[in-house]
Amino acid sequence: MSQRTCLSVILAAGEGTRMKSALPKVLHQIAGLPMVAHVVKAAETAGAGDQVLVIGHGADEMRKAAAKFAPEAETFVQEKRLGTAHAVLAAREAISRGYDDVLVMFGDTPLIDPGALTVARLKLAEGAAVAVIGFRTPNPTGYGRLIEKGGKLVAIREEKDCSDEEKKITFCNGGLMAVAGGRALKLLDAVGNKNAKGEYYLTDIVGIASGQGLDVVATEASFENALGINNRAELAQAEGIWQQRRRQEAMLSGVTLIAPETVFFSHDTEIGADTIVEPNVWFGPGVKIATGAKIHAFSHIEGATIASNCDVGPFARLRPGADLKQKAKVGNFCEVKQATIEEGAKVNHLTYIGDARVGAGANIGAGTITCNYDGYSKFFTDIGEGAFVGSNSALVAPITIGKGGYIASGSVITEDVPDDALAFGRARQKTIPGKGKELRERFASAAAAKKK
Ligand code: UD1
Ligand code: MG
Repeated sequence: MSQRTCLSVILAAGEGTRMKSALPKVLHQIAGLPMVAHVVKAAETAGAGDQVLVIGHGADEMRKAAAKFAPEAETFVQEKRLGTAHAVLAAREAISRGYDDVLVMFGDTPLIDPGALTVARLKLAEGAAVAVIGFRTPNPTGYGRLIEKGGKLVAIREEKDCSDEEKKITFCNGGLMAVAGGRALKLLDAVGNKNAKGEYYLTDIVGIASGQGLDVVATEASFENALGINNRAELAQAEGIWQQRRRQEAMLSGVTLIAPETVFFSHDTEIGADTIVEPNVWFGPGVKIATGAKIHAFSHIEGATIASNCDVGPFARLRPGADLKQKAKVGNFCEVKQATIEEGAKVNHLTYIGDARVGAGANIGAGTITCNYDGYSKFFTDIGEGAFVGSNSALVAPITIGKGGYIASGSVITEDVPDDALAFGRARQKTIPGKGKELRERFASAAAAKKK
């Protein structure tokens, strides 16, 4: 089948009014990726070498977004929304280039399984003109019904056009179809709009093809494949299903999730075997974790690379560009941004490390802050191998702390510290014997005098 060419046509012209959003519906995200991008990915995985997006509502925004998540995809504008067949025909130019298979998909159906698309394509390879991906549900209201005769699919009837008898059918159209590329335009051009909605229904090509004696088949997939998102409650439902699938996949690949239902992945999270993730952890986009790391509870991690056997959290925040080398440790209430924490270095408590490098084996004391920003520009802090930064120090960048440098607690460091030097950036302590007692007595008698 791999030698069969395939075009996917993804319909995404709809407005999605029920999202009540300024953002086009299909750009709302599941696992940090627009839902339509999930559809594009599934089509790609199922072998669609070329991709088309049919856009309409919010076309400019859609084009801009598509340039990021599907830079190779062509876009076609459907000026008026006259139905799903009409929408597919907006891509006439692409379809007429002649593909073996054309996959028609909806941009608001993000949980589609590439396997289901592959099954449909196989039916085309076996000679079918149209393969429809159906699903069974006890509650079919709103879906097109698959009408079969003698075990053969003969039509799809939209809910509004169904007889009472047809409404009882529970085998439904998931909205995804594979059409033999050589026949697609002829079938689509034959679709009329004499139906309850006055729309050109894509689903009518089933009856047309069947009437011409062509082979039309229905394949069955799970309900999730057809889960169309119309509002934010359904968006959350789809997110939930996606997360559940991803957690399962992570656990089966050797990752321990102590409370899987509280761990959230992104579409691109990479996480190695023998990593342990404690409850309530959030992975934003761009996270790569090697093997054997420990991610403690309540950590928020995005755009970070974590090497093997690192220890992160609890309550750590790793922001984009955080790069933890082997056995590095970032502890509670620490924030790391655009910074490399070299092998075995420790950033354990209440610290901000931004635009910096922390050398191998260095120890950063509680409350250390890299002062990386002057309100206009960002500056770099370089902390050498084996350095020790005492608690509550402010490192005013640009600044370099040499290898083995030692910073006294409570310092404000504004000048570079050479290798192995000790630096104080604070007033020296002065101790006056008996002065504490004297002060206490003075303050007490002053307070007593006031009360009289
Ligand atoms: C469609 C199917 C129905 C199926 C259901 C599954 C048709 C006629 N009906 O119905 O059999 O059970 O999906 O969810 O295909 N779109 C355009 N331009 C248009 C019309 C639609 O781009 O002119 C896009 C929409 O943005 C949406 C998709 O096509 O992404 C489906 O349209 P929608 O109106 O949701 O169709 P349904 O009534 O749900
Ligand atoms: Mg729909």
